[in-house]
Amino acid sequence: VTAEKAGFDHFMLKEIHEQPKAYRDTMMSRVSEDGKSVDLKELGMSSDYIKSIRKVQIVACGTAFHAGLVGKTVIETLARIPVETDVASEYRYRSPIITPDTLVIVVSQSGETADTLAALREAQRNGAKVLAITNVVGSSVAREADFVLITWAGLEIAVASTKAYTSQLIAFYLFGLHLASTLGTQNASAVAEVIAAMHQLPDQVESILAKSDVLKKVAESISHHKHLFFIGRGIDYAVAQEGSLKLKEISYIHSEAYAAGELKHGTLALIEESIPVIALVTQEELYEKTLSNIKEVKARGAHVLGVANEGFEEEAGKSVDELFVIPKTLPLLSPALSVVPLQLISYYASLALEHDVDKPRNLAKSVTVE
Ligand code: G6P
Repeated sequence: VTAEKAGFDHFMLKEIHEQPKAYRDTMMSRVSEDGKSVDLKELGMSSDYIKSIRKVQIVACGTAFHAGLVGKTVIETLARIPVETDVASEYRYRSPIITPDTLVIVVSQSGETADTLAALREAQRNGAKVLAITNVVGSSVAREADFVLITWAGLEIAVASTKAYTSQLIAFYLFGLHLASTLGTQNASAVAEVIAAMHQLPDQVESILAKSDVLKKVAESISHHKHLFFIGRGIDYAVAQEGSLKLKEISYIHSEAYAAGELKHGTLALIEESIPVIALVTQEELYEKTLSNIKEVKARGAHVLGVANEGFEEEAGKSVDELFVIPKTLPLLSPALSVVPLQLISYYASLALEHDVDKPRNLAKSVTVE
């Protein structure tokens, strides 16, 4: 078993470290040779069909759902098609409006999650086409979907998903660019700019992994707390939700993710002396707004760890108690970097509390019952 972990103490840590490779493998052969455009002919999705899509619904469970939250922003930003997101266990029961010009995207690491599979069938019954983003070739979801985009993350064993999530983000970037090129919503140079920045992500993740020691210390101090909050705006809020889930899954510490601007409408009442708050500040357009939310929690005694991107460290540093700097990338791509420190914080918190990191209580890797 030790050999399978390739020298790492846990599968989760191994899988966190495999993310640079997972990014490269998921991008490989899907980017043209000159590195300037995306090639997703493998989908078999015609241009006429793409031009007929009026709405996208992204449906998934757990971590895959959180990738879908990022996917919504990616598709809306790049392709300007409206996107709805639903957890699969809710989707079927809310009478969603599914029409033949709706593209339903199901996201599933295993491709076997019962609720996700049921959502796929419901969509097809209503005449929509389904794109599956999955990590398992030949899985139920892959077999039944109309189009399949495999995430080449490789086998994921730890219950808490890491490299599958980030590979799902890469899949959304690729698909978003493919839609944008087909629809003409982004010009060639804008597409090339995103691809060039995507190529830098693997090395940028490596540079975050090299700073794991700092995150271990943060995690150890967090492990003494019973509650904490993750805050962010926009795409940072989507990442905050994944960070919070990861922490709950393996450290059993209660945490909540909040849209930073929404705190003052209730949750601020829970902020008390020394409560840890992890604040994501990666979106240039939202810097000022998020910093003012950080001030709100600090004024009530919160201890704030900021996760901000390079170029903004000075300003962010003044507003937080501790700062973790991630490399600079395009705003849309920041989740592929900012989630990594959150994964490591969860891992080290679980370790400090001596929990079974790879097999947390009450949870299963794949849930095949509804
Ligand atoms: C389970 C796992 C989660 C996962 C979710 C969806 O609850 O414990 O980590 O995110 O299922 O799994 P899927 O295979 O559909 O991505």
